[in-house]
Amino acid sequence: MSVHGNASASQLSVESLAQGLQVPIHNTMKIENQALLAWVYEMAQLTTPAAIHFCDGSETENQKLLDLMVASGTLKKLNEAKRPGSYLACSDPSDVARVEDRTFICSEKIEDAGPTNNWMAPEEMRATLGGLFKGCMQGRTMYVIPFSMGPLGSPISQIGVEISDSPYVVVNMKIMTRMGLGALQVLGAEGFFVKAMHSVGMPLKAGQKDVLWPCNAEQKYIVHYPEERAIWSFGSGYGGNALLGKKCFALRIASTMGRDEGWLAEHMLILGVESPNKEKKYVTAAFPSACGKTNFAMLIPPATFDGWKVTTIGDDIAWIKVGPTGDMRAINPEAGYFGVAPGTSFKTNPNAMKTIAKNTIFTNVALTEDGDVWWEEMTDVPPAKLTDWQGQAWTPECGRKSAHPNARFTAPASQCPSGDADWENPAGVPISAMLFGGRRAETVPLVFQTNNWAEGVYFAATIGSETTAAATGAVGVVRRDPMAMLPFCGYNMGDYFGHWLSMAGTVKALPKIFVVNWFRKDENGKFMWPGYGDNMRVLKWMFGRVTGTAQAQNSTLGAIPRYQDLDWSGMDFSEARFEKLTQLDQNKWIEEVQSHKEFFSKFGETLPIEFINLQEKTLRRFKDGATTSPGL
Ligand code: GTP
Ligand code: SPV
Ligand code: MN
Repeated sequence: MSVHGNASASQLSVESLAQGLQVPIHNTMKIENQALLAWVYEMAQLTTPAAIHFCDGSETENQKLLDLMVASGTLKKLNEAKRPGSYLACSDPSDVARVEDRTFICSEKIEDAGPTNNWMAPEEMRATLGGLFKGCMQGRTMYVIPFSMGPLGSPISQIGVEISDSPYVVVNMKIMTRMGLGALQVLGAEGFFVKAMHSVGMPLKAGQKDVLWPCNAEQKYIVHYPEERAIWSFGSGYGGNALLGKKCFALRIASTMGRDEGWLAEHMLILGVESPNKEKKYVTAAFPSACGKTNFAMLIPPATFDGWKVTTIGDDIAWIKVGPTGDMRAINPEAGYFGVAPGTSFKTNPNAMKTIAKNTIFTNVALTEDGDVWWEEMTDVPPAKLTDWQGQAWTPECGRKSAHPNARFTAPASQCPSGDADWENPAGVPISAMLFGGRRAETVPLVFQTNNWAEGVYFAATIGSETTAAATGAVGVVRRDPMAMLPFCGYNMGDYFGHWLSMAGTVKALPKIFVVNWFRKDENGKFMWPGYGDNMRVLKWMFGRVTGTAQAQNSTLGAIPRYQDLDWSGMDFSEARFEKLTQLDQNKWIEEVQSHKEFFSKFGETLPIEFINLQEKTLRRFKDGATTSPGL
């Protein structure tokens, strides 16, 4: 990497960059990290922005950027009395979610990306991106956003720097990460950082008027170079495509770091459960996107569960390391919640509603006449008139949804009423149980406890959801989503399974692994389980399994609660219905386990041999009509 002109003096500084590049630099803080300055210099030369802004993460800076976006129309300020400090952004209709088919793992070798990731040779990708990024920030400000994933200065935290031409990204990163001077200080002169390069991909020619949500409708690339620990994202301003600390860094790059260093980066919520006698256990749960992590992380137990408390550590990502005493310790690397808005209400998730009462950025929800927000199912009775997420007049009769189904809120985790006292503890919290669940209308029971680590990992690797007609044309086809990580594993998923299994060699106190399914349906297509707060009944049983107080029966899969093993206080749920909800249908399970083999076949040589053995053993048990499994 070479730096030319005036900036080639032995020590680079923000001032020497401004001189060398001949662009205004908005704030002239002291930055000592030469690698950072050289990278910014190189990226500015490539993308030719109109100005550079080093983010300090201050409130003043944040407010300036919010005001700037209100003035340009990108943000609407919400009613200060109803929703203090909050804003609404509405995206381009072509830019509303992560783009999995445009997401690439550009490892040196194709085998290292594996059969579940898109791959392109790094050199070829660099050439493509070099062309796209050339001049792509013309007419825009380049923001340099230093951030920490995890509490500032914690030994398990990681520093990243995102370069972006989107002020919307800056204000979101301010909520989602520890962003600004604090992160720079931790980075210091010599520290390592993950380079995360982002552009909305819409340069502004001289005199060209900007649009409210710049993006590139034709070209989108979400690219990871795992060996280099680098991220390049082009063409989208939305969510995980643009807030690069989240899926790109904290999952795809971090999972690769975890493979190399013996830890796990997972798509999991983390919560604490406390019993009336103050015994406390921590639990993680991996559910695929939009399958209820935020809801479960903020669960409020039924009123009859006197003295039981659930507390929130995180709702989306867990970094899990082996602690000094050989337990598994998890931290939430994020500082905010980027949660699905539709369906969130005081009925389904009061804690989330309170978290988003102020200082929140809403994206793609509807605007009420009095300057507040609304989305489907927020209230039983919709407002008579709204402006929908596309800026159109909306009434309950119009037949359209007022909010985009993937509309989101960005809110500080510190505002969550159920926040755990240890949610920022740099040592993490000890994990006693791990839950895995997808959306399965049939076959998978409400809950079962797997027999041991290896079997748990096996079943975690086979969770999935039935597809909907909209996505594939075929209804009821199971899309396997191992550990809810299918779109987020930064390396070969066969190796990932092996890495999971290998934790048994380094962890002394392995968590118990459970499979759950809140989504089983009856013959009328209705959910059999009420879910939400009532999931506490299942959580209490799992707590009991961990502490050794809850009973179960052995089954073909592992331990399953009998009717009398769950706490039914304050709820009317018949034993017959519970039998149906937990029943293992022999034929369906034979089909299920056979399809595991089909899914595994794509991993070839990288698939752990244990999985093949377990598949055969489990299939044999079901074919033999066995009603128990060894190992309990
Ligand atoms: P990402 O942020 O996309 O990773 O997803 P998430 O897992 O945090 O999703 P979220 O909690 O926002 O999931 C919302 C969806 O799950 C909505 O469709 C809810 O209706 C549904 N959901 C959440 N909990 C339950 C439950 O206990 N039962 C049922 N049936 N649906 C639930
Ligand atoms: C997910 O899709 O799992 C999310 C939202 O958590 S995003 O950050 O956009 O990926
Ligand atoms: Mn997620």
